[in-house]
Amino acid sequence: MLSIQRNVPLDDLNTLGFSANAEYFVQITDIAQLPLLCEYCQEQKLELLLLGGGSNLVLGDRIGGMVALIDLKGWSSESLKDGRVLLRIAAGENWHTAVDRMLDEGLFGLENLALIPGTVGAAPVQNIGAYGVELKDHLHEVEVYDRAQKCFTRLSRSACHFAYRDSVFKSLEPDRYIITAVTFILQRDFNPVLGYSGLSELAGRPYLTARDVFEQVCSIRRSKLPDPKLLGNAGSFFKNPVIPPEQLLQLKQRFPDLVSYPDQGRCKLAAGWMIDRCGWKGRREGQVGVYEHQALVLFNAGGGTRTELERLMANIQLSVQQTFGVWLEPEPRFYPAIKN
Ligand code: EPU
Repeated sequence: MLSIQRNVPLDDLNTLGFSANAEYFVQITDIAQLPLLCEYCQEQKLELLLLGGGSNLVLGDRIGGMVALIDLKGWSSESLKDGRVLLRIAAGENWHTAVDRMLDEGLFGLENLALIPGTVGAAPVQNIGAYGVELKDHLHEVEVYDRAQKCFTRLSRSACHFAYRDSVFKSLEPDRYIITAVTFILQRDFNPVLGYSGLSELAGRPYLTARDVFEQVCSIRRSKLPDPKLLGNAGSFFKNPVIPPEQLLQLKQRFPDLVSYPDQGRCKLAAGWMIDRCGWKGRREGQVGVYEHQALVLFNAGGGTRTELERLMANIQLSVQQTFGVWLEPEPRFYPAIKN
């Protein structure tokens, strides 16, 4: 059964806290609703926006078409002969709560991804990553409803085409699949990943546990990233741009302290460092601004609009382009898409 509502406010369902209204809205609590939903949207010629935690979205004030809040719940596990565990979690579960519960159940691998906002089903879309771990490192398969073939199916890790903050769900076929559950492959043995500064200091600690890493990640994130409940934001607003090594060499001559990381034969630049260097950190324009502790995060102080945010974004892009010759791509999805 689909219970469709009209003109539903989404203000509390997007972490930037923009005021937005959905023309049609439905809450999905059972996968059996999905074929009905897709049929309805096709018949009525409605575009479909899937909503998880709303933490990577920039909404316009009027969302024409159907918004479906994916609220599927469920958790089950299966032990493999080699000691590892397959853990299946439904798409609507909260990501951070799920990581916390993994540790309670002695399942390790995703502790570095603590405190990332959003839902389990949204996590594969942009292949969430932090502190040296990416979702794809521990993903086994993704269960989906395929809107093109009108059937439920599963995508293996390789079929998901994961890349830095990217996947088949985001770029290649953005409107094809509705994620219903994700299966992770986790260890019973704890193998810490401590390469990231801020975690490396844990390396010498005797009896280090995954819970210690989890707590440390939470503490770093709380100090650098604003809590969306207190200050509207969508996490990192720009991707870290990846450039060829020759371009980095040239840039380093002009900016010797430019922060960069090797990335599969190319070089990933710290966008936050460049935005900071251009003087944007802590700046406010109207009701939106650049967070004072992390220049990669843009915020809505309350009552801000998407137009204001787009203007700030464009000014930052231009300023970084003029200074460093590099174009910053936004990380969140804009819905409706930005008009060029
Ligand atoms: N930096 C500055 N000024 C700033 C911000 C950063 O100089 O205002 C410098 C830092 O000192 C550091 C470098 O830039 O040397 C990189 O900054 P940071 O370590 O904070 O990481 P990041 O590149 O800004 C990425 C992810 C985050 C993830 C962290 C930790 C992207 C776009 N962002 O941020 O992901 O939590 O690394 O792994 O890849 C997200 O995607 O929403 C997100 C928060």
